[in-house]
Amino acid sequence: LASIEVDISKIESGSGIKVSWRKQPVFVRNLTPKEIAEADAVPVSSLRDPETLEQRTKPGHKNWLITLGVCTHLGCVPLGISPEENRGPYGGYFCPCHGSQYDTAARIRGGPAPKNLFVPEYAFKSPTTVQIG
Ligand code: FES
Repeated sequence: LASIEVDISKIESGSGIKVSWRKQPVFVRNLTPKEIAEADAVPVSSLRDPETLEQRTKPGHKNWLITLGVCTHLGCVPLGISPEENRGPYGGYFCPCHGSQYDTAARIRGGPAPKNLFVPEYAFKSPTTVQIG
């Protein structure tokens, strides 16, 4: 109940999967080098909820962005885990309910949401297995 294991071996760069943990959607996304560079290029002091991509990922696994798929405004599920979906102007996630825009580190950049998408507790059990919770 408390934790789940996720096989990340088949998630291609630029894509991601949505899993369920404690009845909440969790986004597991494999960032491209370009998406990582975009996140790193943003001055942290300019952010509404200032955090670096480094602080939001694990050492040596900066391409794996794992967050709740729950908008911090009123809890809708943002679009963007699949590259076919609308990721919004900052290339991360876009919330269709009231237009919150998240960047490639899932940090809030526009719209009404106050906080970045929440990073749950997780750990790499192997290079291809992540335990969430
Ligand atoms: Fe996402 Fe309102 S719930 S913008």
